Amino acid sequence: MKTRIVQVEEKNIDMEIIREAGEIIKAGGLVAFPTETVYGLGGDALNGASSGKIYAAKGRPSDNPLIIHIAGMEYLPRIVKRIPEEAYKLAGLYWPGPLTMIFEKADCVPLETTGGLATVAVRMPSNKAARALIEAAGGYVAAPSANLSGRPSPTMAKHVIEDMDGRIDMIIDGGEADIGLESTIVDLTGDGPVILRPGYVTREMLEDAVSGVAVDGTILGGDAAGAPKAPGMKYRHYAPRGSLVIVEGMQEKAAACINSRLKAHRQAGERTGVIATDETAALYQADSVKSLGRRSDEETIAKHLFQILREFDEEEIQFIYAESFDARGVGQAIMNRLLKAAGHQVIRQ
Ligand code: TXA
Ligand code: MG
Repeated sequence: MKTRIVQVEEKNIDMEIIREAGEIIKAGGLVAFPTETVYGLGGDALNGASSGKIYAAKGRPSDNPLIIHIAGMEYLPRIVKRIPEEAYKLAGLYWPGPLTMIFEKADCVPLETTGGLATVAVRMPSNKAARALIEAAGGYVAAPSANLSGRPSPTMAKHVIEDMDGRIDMIIDGGEADIGLESTIVDLTGDGPVILRPGYVTREMLEDAVSGVAVDGTILGGDAAGAPKAPGMKYRHYAPRGSLVIVEGMQEKAAACINSRLKAHRQAGERTGVIATDETAALYQADSVKSLGRRSDEETIAKHLFQILREFDEEEIQFIYAESFDARGVGQAIMNRLLKAAGHQVIRQ
């Protein structure tokens, strides 16, 4: 398949391109598009065959449900059985934005889209090009992150091109994603709200709208912590091709530990990389040392993580060591993604 690559600026949206992209989705095709979190791979959410195509293009197991993207609150009632009070409160504060909510699904939502579940995940992105596309496509766009299954989520169109060129109809290049980590997922189908995947909207932020927000215990735990409620969280994710190990501990001790390992790899003729911060990058002797940003600047760290994991692949790095981050606030999402990328390989110093 020939993939058309087009550019759309969020501040000056070319509505002709958006209209064409919407027609592709309505006709059952697939279009990758920018959102404020990561790029999405969009298809018609109410067409089971389109969802089937999404799974095939990503190489994703079909028991891993998709998020339905909507452009306005008025689209929500059609696809859910009921809207709990908490959903209005959360939507009031965080929609449009990087928050996904889980509801009981209405009959019109095909089981292909929900991976066989009776519930459905819904998000209203803040990116204006994304919302324009969703409207042009009929209002309901199923979109997982636009990466091949297992690879880091795409934060730039070039990442989508790497993974999806030749597999989908169109890629809309809208520049670099603002946030760089996927949305926070909150389940509203149980007794109280439960965070199934941490993201930019933190537990503290959710509690500004609703009380008693719980966190699924598997979010930072390893395999021993049980089966996660968001089916996608059980798969190895975001993984670079090289081996990735996180080193926890005081800065000096952690750096000494990383450097001694780097030396052993060098002597074995292996290519090495380090995920560091502005404060520590100069401490390491590796083939490739990458800073995520200043340690105190969580937003910048979040924005660069997936991009850096992909760069190590390009540079054919075999062994990567990462510093550890404080798992509070947005740090919880950063550590969740880093631990998954590392397959939970952690050295404590
Ligand atoms: O920021 C995002 O959410 C991005 C952009 C494109 O919007 N999308 C995204 O989709 O990250 P995806 O498919 O890569 O991740 C969706 C996650 C998976 O872990 C999936 O298992 C979970 O959401 N999920 C979807 N529907 C669910 C449901 N009904 N119940 C529990 N988890 C669900
Ligand atoms: Mg994904």
